[in-house]
Amino acid sequence: MYEGYKKYIPFQPVKLPDRTWPDKVITKAPIWCSVDLRDGNQALIDPMNLEEKLKFFKLLVDVGFKEIEIGFPSASETEYEICRTLIERDLIPDDVTIQVLVQCRPHLIQRTFEAIDGAKNVIVHFYNSTSTLQRKVVFKTDMQGVIDIAVEGAKLVRELTEKEIARTGANIRYEYSPESFSGTEIDNAVEICERVLETLGATPEKKVILNLPNTVEMSTPNTHADQIEYFCRHLKNRESAIISLHPHNDRGCGTAATELGIMAGAERVEGTLFGNGERTGNADIMNVAMNMYSQGVDPELDFSDIRHIRQVYEECTKMKVHPRHPYAGDLVFTAFSGSHQDAINKGVQYMQQSGTPYWEVPYLPIDPADVGRKYEPIIRINSQSGKGGAAFVMQQTFGYELPKAMHPEFGALVKAACDKAGRELKAEEIFDIFRTHYLEVKAPYNLKSYKLYEENTEENKPAVVHFEGNLRFGHQDHPLSATGNGPIDAFFNAIRGIGITDYSFVSYSEHAVGSGADTQALSYIQLKTSQGKTIFGVGMDHNISLASIKGIICAINRAVSDNG
Ligand code: KIV
Ligand code: ZN
Repeated sequence: MYEGYKKYIPFQPVKLPDRTWPDKVITKAPIWCSVDLRDGNQALIDPMNLEEKLKFFKLLVDVGFKEIEIGFPSASETEYEICRTLIERDLIPDDVTIQVLVQCRPHLIQRTFEAIDGAKNVIVHFYNSTSTLQRKVVFKTDMQGVIDIAVEGAKLVRELTEKEIARTGANIRYEYSPESFSGTEIDNAVEICERVLETLGATPEKKVILNLPNTVEMSTPNTHADQIEYFCRHLKNRESAIISLHPHNDRGCGTAATELGIMAGAERVEGTLFGNGERTGNADIMNVAMNMYSQGVDPELDFSDIRHIRQVYEECTKMKVHPRHPYAGDLVFTAFSGSHQDAINKGVQYMQQSGTPYWEVPYLPIDPADVGRKYEPIIRINSQSGKGGAAFVMQQTFGYELPKAMHPEFGALVKAACDKAGRELKAEEIFDIFRTHYLEVKAPYNLKSYKLYEENTEENKPAVVHFEGNLRFGHQDHPLSATGNGPIDAFFNAIRGIGITDYSFVSYSEHAVGSGADTQALSYIQLKTSQGKTIFGVGMDHNISLASIKGIICAINRAVSDNG
């Protein structure tokens, strides 16, 4: 029996029957604070070295973060050095505030102030743990003991800040975290934060950031939202505080908890790119921001080159982004199912034809181009992909507009190749199938020479087209000569003259490929054999008439050699 579950205590939600957050909608980006260089970094098997941290810091600035927690300068010499390097090398843009984390311990607070000497904009972030469990098993103290630690910490932080401002004029702000907020009795969390606000002299003009960590995610995200709404409603000097979220992801709901927390009244979010961080990680800021983006809300962060962001992230952290990671994973803009592919195809066509200003493509919540991804990898073809899928790849990736009637024929060729390979095919492999079966079919019939010209026999009558040439087959050249009402008709008449009579013409379509001097005509010719089978041929040439004639020869060659 699997009975271990009996040892777990169910999470007790706060009582908030008149909650208002479920009716709220996110219409504005919160203040974002990246904690990649601290919470994310401390959770790496190999924490970043100086060079990696500097590279990551630049990436965060480029993405648009205005608040960046750079580390825990009092925790180690390396952390201290990173802070000093950023300041001394003048690497912090004027509109970016660095944030430094410190426990509520006097010697660590002192050292933190030494580390930030010379910085223009700083958030001093101090914290102590307040949770019921930590009070019981770690600190063995009551709530008053924990409040005293926070208040003493706040006094020292304020004193050192005021001295530093008087000395250097730096812009120093405060942040306090009741660590393990979500595991703290909610009224205790409110009380300790009120005491800290008072001690720091918070006012609506000099707001203090109150960061409410979901240090270990222990409940459903709606319960987290209730905690945030309850806190915002009960905090006495709410207007003197900026409420910040710091969700972790232990239950895999970090993104949801962040979104519901914003709906519940939070104005700021701490998290990391791709959700790196302790255990299962922190809130994934890229995910939350792109979710907003997909709802028509400006996230105020720029993920337009997600491959580059991901590359720097992977290089610095040595972590890998999962192939199914929202917006960033290798597979998130693919569709393996044929019905999905058909719907995507139709959505793209609808957008092109209707000129709609909105993104209206089924199965793709955002335009892949918005994160620097291309349509090219959207569809990978497997044996279940359906007849439209391969044609879609030909159109989107290579610009070949196969006529609709040709889709089943080409789809069957691709399906057979998939079955043979036992895996899905890449776009290039699909093109290879097209090349082998349509562009490189040269036998048994081969046009060795040709001449086409028009003749006007009578005024106001259509011109007569003459075709003359040589068709090689059976190791012999066969002279061709006939007239018709157009190049295709003349060629058909010419081959009938040498006994090739098994084929009738069904349909023709053509378009240009390439550009400038390289532009060629691509003709798709559908013929019917005397046994009633239809077959396509493709011809490509700079000369549009010759492209059609090549297409006819291709179709006949395919019929004869059973290349179809
Ligand atoms: O998760 C957490 O509680 C933290 C605090 C130090 C803010 O990282
Ligand atoms: Zn954390």
